Amino acid sequence: MKKNILVTGAFGQIGSELIAALEKRSGKSLVVAFDKRLDPNFKGISVIGDITDKELLRNIVIEHNIGTVYHLVSLLSAVGENNPELAWKVNMDGLRNILDLAREYDLKVFWPSSIAAFGKTTPRENTPQRTVLEPGTMYGVTKVAGELLCQYYFNKFGVDVRSVRYPGVISWKTLPGGGTTDYAVDIFWKAIETGEYVCFLKKDTALPMMYIDDAIRATLEIMDADPKKIAIRTSYNLAAVSFTPATLADAIRKAGVPLKIKYLPDFRQSIADSWPKSIDDKSARKDWKWKHQFDLDKMVKEMLRGVREMRAK
Ligand code: SER
Repeated sequence: MKKNILVTGAFGQIGSELIAALEKRSGKSLVVAFDKRLDPNFKGISVIGDITDKELLRNIVIEHNIGTVYHLVSLLSAVGENNPELAWKVNMDGLRNILDLAREYDLKVFWPSSIAAFGKTTPRENTPQRTVLEPGTMYGVTKVAGELLCQYYFNKFGVDVRSVRYPGVISWKTLPGGGTTDYAVDIFWKAIETGEYVCFLKKDTALPMMYIDDAIRATLEIMDADPKKIAIRTSYNLAAVSFTPATLADAIRKAGVPLKIKYLPDFRQSIADSWPKSIDDKSARKDWKWKHQFDLDKMVKEMLRGVREMRAK
């Protein structure tokens, strides 16, 4: 019997585009969207609820004959610092619920970790796959604990859970929700709307980033890979481009959009300062043949096109 797919955090920045990609290719499998709030524009099957409610999740798994879960629900770094207790509860209880159900109902699971798993004591240039993990945010703490939990469920119970450490994800269809890398999305909207942007990070703060299409493709490719190729069951480093706010502003100007930028760093600066500037993702490239397609200029072009399209709606 064909099994269906559940996406949690379905209407967030990554979920909304992942759902579209899954619907396009999943044939007759149904995609069930789960989130805490309804997206009135969503036409598919959705369930609204709390990710800490395990019995609700169990009912969804049974009722909709779920075989695969993309578990994306998470409080991100900046909102997590404003409410660390909630970040722990949502991020950790949510993941444990999904892993427990995966064990019980033999579900295959994708769960994203993040560059936030790294911290001040991690080498910041070309950060290796296996390195020091001492994050300074609650979000990062939940990512490290989550990675270990995934590995534990794989080793102990055979749960086929796969993970990547997403860099900052850049997209235009849905805004990111409360991360430190969000400036790299906001800047496009402001550049087109007003030609001016006030950046909450310093001009020379380099961070690893990725265009949404690459992030979605990585997610699908790691899930499609032969299980024997998935040698890392914590989470794979994943990289595409790295840039600073100043470099991004230059690339936007080069693409023909005039932009004045001011820098007013806030509490997110110290979060960014504790994260890598660039990532070594050779394990992903070797094990499941990861390859990014969007460099900085291609990403800027797509973002400008997409933001203009959204504004014209
Ligand atoms: N984009 C995330 C954040 O900034 C990093 O995973 O919190």
